[in-house]
Amino acid sequence: MNEYDSHLVESQLVSMGASIVDNMDAADFVLLNTCAVRGKPVEKVKSVLGQLRLEKKRRPLTVGMMGCLAQLEEGQQIARKFEVDILLGPGAILDLPAALESNERFWSLHFRDELHDFIPPPPQGKLQAHLTIMRGCDHRCTYCIVPTTRGPQVSRHPDHILKELDSLLGAGVQEVTLLGQNVNSYGIDQGQRIPGIPSFAELLRMVGSSGIKRIKFTTSHPMNFTEDVVQAMAETPAVCEFIHLPVQSGSSRVLKRMAREYNREKYLEHIACIKKWMPDAVLFTDIIVGFPGETEEDFQETLSLYDEVGYDSAYMFIYSARPGTPSYKHFEDLPREVKTERLMRLIERQKEWAMRRNSRFVGRDVEVLLRGDAFNPDFLEGHTRGQHATIVPKVPGMDKAGIYTVRVEQVTPHQFNAKFLDAQGHTLEPILAPTPEAALLSSPLPMA
Ligand code: 5AD
Ligand code: SF4
Repeated sequence: MNEYDSHLVESQLVSMGASIVDNMDAADFVLLNTCAVRGKPVEKVKSVLGQLRLEKKRRPLTVGMMGCLAQLEEGQQIARKFEVDILLGPGAILDLPAALESNERFWSLHFRDELHDFIPPPPQGKLQAHLTIMRGCDHRCTYCIVPTTRGPQVSRHPDHILKELDSLLGAGVQEVTLLGQNVNSYGIDQGQRIPGIPSFAELLRMVGSSGIKRIKFTTSHPMNFTEDVVQAMAETPAVCEFIHLPVQSGSSRVLKRMAREYNREKYLEHIACIKKWMPDAVLFTDIIVGFPGETEEDFQETLSLYDEVGYDSAYMFIYSARPGTPSYKHFEDLPREVKTERLMRLIERQKEWAMRRNSRFVGRDVEVLLRGDAFNPDFLEGHTRGQHATIVPKVPGMDKAGIYTVRVEQVTPHQFNAKFLDAQGHTLEPILAPTPEAALLSSPLPMA
């Protein structure tokens, strides 16, 4: 979501005549897009703002802060301390031109409805793009600050979504990721079905008939999970066989304290439904370890759920007590060592399963979107339909970004090493034999 908003802001700046530089020292204006979900990114923002405050003493420089942290009192205190000139809440990013024209400190935290209709110019020269289908969240998970920072859920009208999709297609985009805090409840805002807005399953079919080659989406909340979405996925060829279904914990007791509105059994029913429609689907999840009151038995339930589902991968987080959330107010944080030790054990489990699950692809031909050169320019890098980071050695005539079928030769828990095929289905030899460095080119899954 932040990447999408960064692109939106970047396009506003470019249309105002600015150019984007990749180094803060060369910039007249630095705008930090912030995250408030965990404490660590907040510390990072403070450290960068500290550097920028010093820099401002040396030369003319405008400093801005946007994103979830900007919406919080915590963020506004930080902004005051570090003399931030422009502060834009997640709903106020269209105020950026006005902010830059103003000669005074400009802080805007209101939500502008035009944001839902705004269609940013498409990214240039990219095969992949994000597309926001809704903003905000109607859930109240006790650990989560997002409903406070991003407000209640508002679904975008399908006309705007399809118009934006058209513009992406026109710019050569081949894979789109539909974004929302909880895509499964698309069209049902604050418990009310919005007239004229399709369900998420219907939207998937509409996007699927646009001519786009690959569709992914994130994130689904198990509470709003419905079989018609899985059916639409299975029946729409462009929709990738990839589901990210955050579970957060395998213990029903912890799930209740998190106010997740489902229990372990219900979650496993959803997994069974996915496996029924798409037996080979790639499954990702999010897990928080060390939620207040989580016992060793609760944690064992998370590990056993991991084994029962057999996830392809997981984003794993240590619980971070965020001021303003119910769990911060009402529950006591567990000791840091307990949380860290559990995370380590979970990461081990994740790696074992990722290796086991990835191994099923060895020798198989898979579709990969290669977005361009890897760190080592003898290789191209990209992702499969199941989100596996993949590298492929270039061969004569096959050195450009695009969607290809490749044969998986080796896997690690983080990466596929694959080869191009010729018309007869034989693997093509690379210009250079893969070096041991190839192993270093992987982009490991983000973990906290
Ligand atoms: N501490 C740790 N992880 C969190 N997440 C959300 N809030 C917190 C928190 N306070 C994680 C959840 C969510 C993902 C985006 O971030 O796992 O799915
Ligand atoms: Fe946060 Fe829960 Fe909403 Fe996800 S569903 S954004 S975890 S409150």
